[in-house]
Amino acid sequence: MCGIVGFTGNNKAAPFLLEGLKKLEYRGYDSAGIAVLSGDKIKTEKTVGRIKSLMEKTDNGKTVDGNIGIGHTRWATHGAPTTENAHPHLSGNLKFAVVHNGIIENYSALRQKLIDEGVAFNSQTDTEVVPHLLQKYYNGNITETVSKVMGLLEGSFALGIVCSDYPDTLIAAKRFSPLIIGVGEKSNIIASDVTAIAAVTKDIIYLEDDEIALLTPSEVKVLDTNGKTLNKEITTISWDVSAAEKGGFKHYMMKEIFEQPKAIKQALSGRIKNGEVYFENFSLTKEKLKNINRIVIVACGSAYHAGIVGKYVIEEMTRIPCEIDLASEFRYRKPIIDEKVLTVLISQSGETADTLAALKEAKSLGSHIVSIVNVVGSSIAKASDDVLYTWAGPEIAVATTKGYSTQVAVLYLFSAFIAKALNTLDDKTITDFLNDVKELPEKIEEILKEKDAIKELAKHSVNDSSLFFIGRNIDYAVSLEASLKLKEISYIHSESYAAGELKHGTISLIEEGRTVIALACCETLKDKLLSNIKEVAARGAFVITCANEGNTDFIKESNEMIYVPKVNELLIASTEVIPFQIYSYYVAYYKGCDIDKPRNLAKSVTVE
Ligand code: G6P
Repeated sequence: MCGIVGFTGNNKAAPFLLEGLKKLEYRGYDSAGIAVLSGDKIKTEKTVGRIKSLMEKTDNGKTVDGNIGIGHTRWATHGAPTTENAHPHLSGNLKFAVVHNGIIENYSALRQKLIDEGVAFNSQTDTEVVPHLLQKYYNGNITETVSKVMGLLEGSFALGIVCSDYPDTLIAAKRFSPLIIGVGEKSNIIASDVTAIAAVTKDIIYLEDDEIALLTPSEVKVLDTNGKTLNKEITTISWDVSAAEKGGFKHYMMKEIFEQPKAIKQALSGRIKNGEVYFENFSLTKEKLKNINRIVIVACGSAYHAGIVGKYVIEEMTRIPCEIDLASEFRYRKPIIDEKVLTVLISQSGETADTLAALKEAKSLGSHIVSIVNVVGSSIAKASDDVLYTWAGPEIAVATTKGYSTQVAVLYLFSAFIAKALNTLDDKTITDFLNDVKELPEKIEEILKEKDAIKELAKHSVNDSSLFFIGRNIDYAVSLEASLKLKEISYIHSESYAAGELKHGTISLIEEGRTVIALACCETLKDKLLSNIKEVAARGAFVITCANEGNTDFIKESNEMIYVPKVNELLIASTEVIPFQIYSYYVAYYKGCDIDKPRNLAKSVTVE
């Protein structure tokens, strides 16, 4: 999410900043900007869109004078992708310029306090509080000031700062967001990751949480927040730039699979407070919710599958009837919608044509629209009454993984939000549920450690010509996504069936050696599912079962087992989907498929 760079040296900063940002563009690319200090004046240049526009605007940086500066490529979280919201952000007295990666969770309160004190804001970003706070607390000592401001910030941040009182000193600080320092010959650099630095130096210092760095062209000093100088090790690395962009993974898909714990944390970030859910700028009040008699979820592809999980969870927790529809069907079936219906649109890109058309249809019929979207400022986000962003960061692989997982996470929050507003569950149950949700990233980390075992197991499906996924309840919802994942990247025909439905026709396709993958984490229905597994096993199926750790009920009937940590039964989608993302990845990998760009597919489908 967002890329930052900074430079201090004996030559012009802007050309380096732009080159560095280009390398970081995969982290976000909706707007970009640089701030360069020349004499005692900070000059900023910003554009909406890709770095290319900024390069064109500044003749590749040649028109911007100054040897010290910072740059940013943005993936919007707070505020649409506009020039005003593009970084760097300045303090009112123009003394400080700041670039930021991360989310400042308490920015609303900080912003309000500053506004009450007469500070004027130029953007909707969470970041802009930082330069204003630096101005407010500046005492002539930059380390003390930065340290003071860090003490006021909650959430995650990597900051690059220039101050006009320090004409050759670049300042950096971080907590929970990555930031590295490149140690050069006559220049020193900061960046979100090595890709931006590769062309200049291989000597790196990793900045740790709550450390502050002061860089001049000839020196790098790292301090703790008490101003004590720290002894930092310089690591010399040999890297392959494209591997670094993919974080060392061969494909974006695997990188994004591994980013899921972090992405879910981000999706939950700042939204669970004192055991209940808090959504910023959310207009759907308790009073409005009381008038809702039905919820309709509309989406396409994996977002539709996330919606099916949502239907189970919402109905269970709120007792409001919840329908789910494919966007391409919804709009042509004269949907029965009025102002008593809440319509929830789910879309990673926020640009899917069918979903957008469904939104317009529902809106025209008087429904309140809540969208669950990843891309800030996208068409669906703009057209909605309320938006719940998933904050997954840019998803590059066509087959979604972290996009889906964060949609599901936001649906949990939304369910708890409604349950609290309508009092359909007591406070303790909601708090316990939210505590279970908060534990999901850790549980997913545990599953990711099993990557190699799943890789081995995936060899089994390389020669499958067709296979089946079965499950009941939320297991069924996950089986739809698992099946789609496998077919879209490995090109193996795969179908998902509600386990109880198989015997009504499709069981005729089960023959000796046919792979059937049973999802069995919903323990309330384990006996029912076991009967269905026996039905296929008796007909010669090769059964792979995914069950909760410690559950031995399925071993006898299964040829292979996959275990995931046991979680609250309403949350199984978040854990159970992970092994099958990895399984699908490796089947496609063994088959030599183009994993990040599967044939015939597109990441964002803007046609009907
Ligand atoms: C495309 C993608 C899918 C995605 C679907 C909906 O088909 O390949 O991965 O689930 O669109 O996209 P959206 O951006 O609306 O979530």
